[in-house]
Amino acid sequence: MKDIYILGIESSCDETSISIVKNGCEEISTVTSSQIDIHKNYGGVVPEIASRHHIKNITIVLEECLDKANMSMDDITAIAVTYGPGLIGSLLIGLTAAKTLAFIHHKPLIPVHHIAGHIYANNLVKPLTFPLLCLVVSGGHTELIKMEDHYKFKKLGGTLDDAIGECYDKVARIIGLEYPGGPKLDKLSKTGQDTYHLPIPLNDDSYNFSFSGLKSAVINLVHNEEQRQNEIRKADLAYSFQKVAVGSVIKKTHHAIQKEKIKSLIVAGGVAANNYLRDEIEKLGKEENIEICFPPINYCTDNAAMIAAAGYFAYKDKRVTDLYLNVKSNDKLA
Ligand code: KG4
Ligand code: ZN
Repeated sequence: MKDIYILGIESSCDETSISIVKNGCEEISTVTSSQIDIHKNYGGVVPEIASRHHIKNITIVLEECLDKANMSMDDITAIAVTYGPGLIGSLLIGLTAAKTLAFIHHKPLIPVHHIAGHIYANNLVKPLTFPLLCLVVSGGHTELIKMEDHYKFKKLGGTLDDAIGECYDKVARIIGLEYPGGPKLDKLSKTGQDTYHLPIPLNDDSYNFSFSGLKSAVINLVHNEEQRQNEIRKADLAYSFQKVAVGSVIKKTHHAIQKEKIKSLIVAGGVAANNYLRDEIEKLGKEENIEICFPPINYCTDNAAMIAAAGYFAYKDKRVTDLYLNVKSNDKLA
């Protein structure tokens, strides 16, 4: 069978990333230009600034990606692009680049949902086996998704308010850590202990999550301590917060594994890089005797290799679109 090379483009937030992936599983080259150093000055991503940097970076990233692979556009089978969800202005840059390349080089254009990309990052580690349960934990999503086959996504539950990554970033910010605070909070918690009492969010039997109450509890706790002029034990607070936030996703995941008779669990999204979560998932895998998979750290946060991997299966499923495709800031995974 002829090899299929997908060129993936990802620009939904503050990373301009382009990648070439062979047959949905083998990364040939990926180039990612991150804007973290720019946005950290503002404590979070500024959409207008992000789009301007995508414009500046996208052709450079494309050239570097092709050079690194020692390939030209003639070697590419199809172009996969994140059409949503994400920041409208940022998505538009990636989509316009993808449409232009598809038009000039007569290549099929494949729309990829950003979360499908995060899920398929796992296919770069080992082939997905079905039925599987995917725990999606990112800056914008917290969801439990069941898959019976490639591209058959069934949402079992999701967050009713904030996403877990968003909550990590807000809590990190309130204790003075720079954007993006998630990884810094993860590191800080390693020297802390569970000494702060925080409420367990949505402690029920549903597959849903809630993080806004936990976030408010941390904010109130910090303000109260400040008013009393008490010192905040930041590492302890980081540890106590993580224990509750991760504990909540583990509990719901455990429940879904048992009820849905799951044999394979994968984890996706930026928060899948979290060390405490990875340890707890490992334990859960052993306890339930199921296969588990996480992407390596560089495939957890936004990257185009995951978009190209998902694009391969979308291409096989004939999910090719025309040049009228538009971006969607919010769209369900289907
Ligand atoms: O998937 P992603 O790159 O972007 C979205 O699609 O949202 O996820 C970014 C999120 C941020 O909230 C970031 O703080 C969080 O993932 N994150 C972490 C860690 N690494 C990234 N959160 C906790 N621990 C980490 N090690
Ligand atoms: Zn993402």
